[in-house]
Amino acid sequence: MSTNLLADKRILLGITGGIAVYKSVDLCSKLVQTGAHVQVLMTQSAQKFVTALSFGAICGQQPVTDLWQLYEGAKIGHVTLAHQADAFVIAPLTAHTLARLAQGMADDPITATTLSTRAPLLVAPAMEHNMWQHAATQANLQTLVGRGVNVVGPEQGRLASGAMGMGRMADPLTILEHLRMLLARNGPLSGLRITITAGGTREWVDPVRFMGNRSSGKMGVALARVARDQGAQVNLIYGAMTVPPPLGVTQIEAARAEDMLHAVLAILPQTDVLISAAAIADFRPVTTHASKLKKETGVGIALERTPDVLKAVAEARQHSNMPKLVVGFAAETSDLLANARRKLERKNLDMIVLNDITAADAGFAVDTNRVIIITRDGSVEKLPLLDKETVAFNILHRIRGLMGAQSIGWSPGAGSVLS
Ligand code: CTP
Repeated sequence: MSTNLLADKRILLGITGGIAVYKSVDLCSKLVQTGAHVQVLMTQSAQKFVTALSFGAICGQQPVTDLWQLYEGAKIGHVTLAHQADAFVIAPLTAHTLARLAQGMADDPITATTLSTRAPLLVAPAMEHNMWQHAATQANLQTLVGRGVNVVGPEQGRLASGAMGMGRMADPLTILEHLRMLLARNGPLSGLRITITAGGTREWVDPVRFMGNRSSGKMGVALARVARDQGAQVNLIYGAMTVPPPLGVTQIEAARAEDMLHAVLAILPQTDVLISAAAIADFRPVTTHASKLKKETGVGIALERTPDVLKAVAEARQHSNMPKLVVGFAAETSDLLANARRKLERKNLDMIVLNDITAADAGFAVDTNRVIIITRDGSVEKLPLLDKETVAFNILHRIRGLMGAQSIGWSPGAGSVLS
């Protein structure tokens, strides 16, 4: 199984006539780069902005610009295209085509294919502010939403007219993320509720200073994104991070170790799997000063221990049996395996992911990681240097295996539901 949700997926990309078409060239290119098979369909007005040649050159397939063209040569027809598709994206979607879709018309390749396909439809409207606000457009949009169409954007910003307002097409990367979420439905982790902690905590000394750590949050965010892409319902509890949380996950901010403890304990009853990837502070100042400390008084700040979140989880778990599986991380600089095993025991974990944080290409702030996965049954799996999403994929794969082995009412596979 690939880490890339879009690889080999058949994506129809409908292009209607608005100035935002230039962004769709980029969207098309990004889709092709993910390994998706992209077939572009264009309206006549779309071709006034960008030629079919541009899209054809990017995706290696002649765009469909005329309904009858589909019946020439290969004779595949819009029905065949519609049946083969894994998803249909229309970006940009103009007010005009939106109205035609709401009416159920079928006299061009995009509208006819929309009626014929059972694949999920994602639309990215783009138009002038007043057109977007118009009661007719809003009513048409509601009609589509009521039929299960997924909408991304539009966004606020500078419009083609020069005015500021609502109507810009969503960014291609945002459209891609929404597409990934659509395709994730019924993935191998669907039905599973996964809570992930990510980033570093900050313990405040005074209003301007804190004790923090080097965590970027990248590993936790990669886990959240891959779990979401496999259909899990994901809660991300996060501290300071250099990357944004992914779309489609429930986001809970927790700045200090204490906040993380409360956030994690509160969500345990709704958590099947907890993955603690956050770098949670072990010490905090005994006092957080309300005003900025002066040089002289700051020297020798007294520290105290913070709560150990995973130990608190282990206690809570004895009473409630939730979460069913707990995974910790071990950031070590020496005696790696022995230290990680001790942590697994001490915190009553089912799995611990060990990383040697002295390596320059693994651990904090970089996009790659080299980890060893140790499970309670004693198995040790050493992974090579991988990008963090692939590491996340491997960790989640092991979690699926353990969840299956526990026979706890969840079995891996599409559409599985927790009992
Ligand atoms: N962790 C936790 N609560 C803390 C500190 C860490 O729950 N106050 C979690 C981390 O999220 C990680 C695991 O415990 O999953 C191990 O974290 P690590 O920093 O490697 O170990 P510590 O428990 O802090 O022990 P030490 O610093 O002595 O190695």
